[in-house]
Amino acid sequence: MLFSKFQLQGVAWLLPLVALVAGKEYKYIIPGADLLDEDGVLIQAHGGQIVRHGSKFFWFGEDHTAGGTHFTGISCYSSNDLYNWKNEGHAFSPVAGTQLASDQVGERPKVVYSPEIDKWVMYIHADNTTYGLHLQAMALADEVQGPYALQAIYNPLGKASQDMGLFLDDDGSAYSLYGSGGNNDITILTPDYTNQSRIVFQFSGTNLEAPGMLHSQGVYYNFFSEKTGYRPNDAQYFTASVISGPWSARKQLTPPGKFTFESQNTFELKIAGTKNTTFIFMGDRWDQNELSDSRYMWLPLLLDEEAGTAGMVWHDVWTVDVETGEVGFPEGVGYEAQDGTLTGGANVIPCAGCSQGSLVTNITQSSSVTVSGIVGQNKPQWIALYYVNPDDQLINGLPRLVSVSVNGGAAVMLKQRTTAINVTMSIPFEAYLEKGAVNNITVTGTSAGPAADFDQLIVYPYTP
Ligand SMILES: *[C@@H]1O[C@H](CO)[C@@H](O)[C@H](O)[C@H]1NC(C)=O
Ligand SMILES: *[C@@H]1O[C@H](CO)[C@@H](O)[C@H](O)[C@H]1NC(C)=O
Ligand SMILES: *[C@@H]1O[C@H](CO)[C@@H](O)[C@H](O)[C@H]1NC(C)=O
Ligand SMILES: *[C@@H]1O[C@H](CO)[C@@H](O)[C@H](O)[C@H]1NC(C)=O
Ligand SMILES: *[C@@H]1O[C@H](CO)[C@@H](O)[C@H](O)[C@H]1NC(C)=O
Ligand SMILES: *[C@@H]1O[C@H](CO)[C@@H](O)[C@H](O)[C@H]1NC(C)=O
Repeated sequence: MLFSKFQLQGVAWLLPLVALVAGKEYKYIIPGADLLDEDGVLIQAHGGQIVRHGSKFFWFGEDHTAGGTHFTGISCYSSNDLYNWKNEGHAFSPVAGTQLASDQVGERPKVVYSPEIDKWVMYIHADNTTYGLHLQAMALADEVQGPYALQAIYNPLGKASQDMGLFLDDDGSAYSLYGSGGNNDITILTPDYTNQSRIVFQFSGTNLEAPGMLHSQGVYYNFFSEKTGYRPNDAQYFTASVISGPWSARKQLTPPGKFTFESQNTFELKIAGTKNTTFIFMGDRWDQNELSDSRYMWLPLLLDEEAGTAGMVWHDVWTVDVETGEVGFPEGVGYEAQDGTLTGGANVIPCAGCSQGSLVTNITQSSSVTVSGIVGQNKPQWIALYYVNPDDQLINGLPRLVSVSVNGGAAVMLKQRTTAINVTMSIPFEAYLEKGAVNNITVTGTSAGPAADFDQLIVYPYTP
C-alpha cells in the first residue's frame, strides 16, 4: 500500500456526506455507509480487526482522521451488536523516536488475548513512509481497549513483513500472516503470542496483500487481495485441511468485475452463535484521494467446506444476531430511475446488467431525475442508489459525485465510488421519508461533473 498522505490535500469540495438523519441508532450492517460512532463522528478504524471480549466486540483500526499526523494512532471502538460503536479512544498512540512515531507508518493492527501472560497483545505493521523497513511492532495491554505499551519492533525471524494479519485457531494456536520479499508467510507465534517461532507455510512468489484466515469445519481459508494498493481488486483465497499445507490453487471470491464489492480484505470475523456460525468478511473500501473517508464493506461469507469454496453475495443492508449467529436480509422496495420524471438532457438507455434492463444516462448539473410515489413510514430509512459508471473508473481512479434531494430538501452529495465499466453498484444513504406513497427523490449531477448513470433506488424498512 504505497501512499503518501501529504498528496491528499485540496479536496475540501468533497464534503463527507453526513447522512440526512442525525443521532441515529443503527439496526443493520450497511456495507459502504458513512458509519458514525455514538458521538455522530465518522468511524476511523481502517485496516482493522475485531475481537470479542465478554459480551462486547472491540474494533481496532488505523485512525486516518483528516488533519492527523502521518501515523495518528490505532483507534478502538466497542459495541454490543456490531451495529452501534462507542469510541474508546486510541488503543495505541505514536511513540516518539521509534518506527511508530507520528511521522512513520503504523498499519493493520491485530489484537489477541494471551491467557499465558494474562495480557492483550497487539501487532502493528511498522514502516517508514517509503515502506522500506517492513517491521512488525508488538505491544501489550492489561485491558482490551488499551493503552498498549510498545515492547519491540523487529523484522520477524529476521525477514521483511509487509501487510499483516493474525489468526487465532480453535486449538489456541495463533499465527502471523504477512507478505515477505515477494512471498506470503504464515508463522506460528510462541505459546504466549508475544513473538514468532517459525514459518509453518510459505506461499512462494505470490506477493499478495491484506491476508486474513478462517477455519470452518476442518477447512482453512486464507484470503488475500491482489497487490494493487488502495485500488479495489478481486480477493483471492486458498484452502487447506492443515495450516502447514498443502494449500489449494488460487481461487476468486467475488464475480469478475465486482472487485470484492469495491473493497480489500482486512479480517474474517467469526460469530459462533447458539444456532449458527457466521463468518464476516471485513473489507476496506479505501478512498485513496481522501483516506479519512474510506468506508467499511462487511458481508457474510458463503462457505462450502466440502467443495472448498467461498463466495459473497451483495446486500445493501443485512442483520446478524451476535447471540444466535444468524444472519438476515431485509427486503426493500425498488423504484426504477426510468419511471421517474426527467429534465434537461437526461435520457433512458438499455442496460443489460440493470434491473428491468434500462437506466437513465446524461445526469448533469442541468439535468435531473425525480422518482416519485416512494412509500415511507414517517421514519428514517436506508435507501440504496444503484449506479453504473459508463467508463472504466479503475483506470482514472476518481469517484463521481451525485446530488440527492429528498422531498425538495437540501441536496446532499454522495460519492459514487470507482467501478469497472458497466458494473452495477449501490451506494447507501439514510433519509427521513413521510408516511405513505408521497415521497420524491431528485438525483442530479454536480459542478464537479456528471453523475454516474442511474439504475434504481431500493428503499429499506425502518426497524424499531
Ligand atoms: C526507508 O527505509 C529504507 C531502507 O532503510 C531507506 O532506503 C529509505 O530511504 C527510507 N525512507 C525514508 C523516507 O526514510
Ligand atoms: C523473538 O525471538 C527471537 C528469536 O527467534 C529473539 O531473537 C528476539 O529477541 C525475540 N523478541 C522478543 C521481543 O522477545
Ligand atoms: C447459517 O450459516 C450459514 C453459513 O455461514 C449461512 O449460509 C446461512 O445463511 C446461515 N443461516 C442463518 C439463518 O443465519
Ligand atoms: C446530454 O444532455 C445535453 C443537454 O443537457 C444534451 O445537449 C446532450 O445531447 C445529451 N447527451 C446525450 C448523449 O444524451
Ligand atoms: C457498456 O455498456 C454500453 C451500453 O450498454 C455498451 O455500448 C458498451 O459496449 C459496454 N462496454 C463494455 C466494455 O462492456
Ligand atoms: C417533491 O416533493 C416536494 C416536497 O413535498 C414538492 O414540493 C415537489 O413538488 C415534489 N416534486 C415532484 C416532482 O413530485
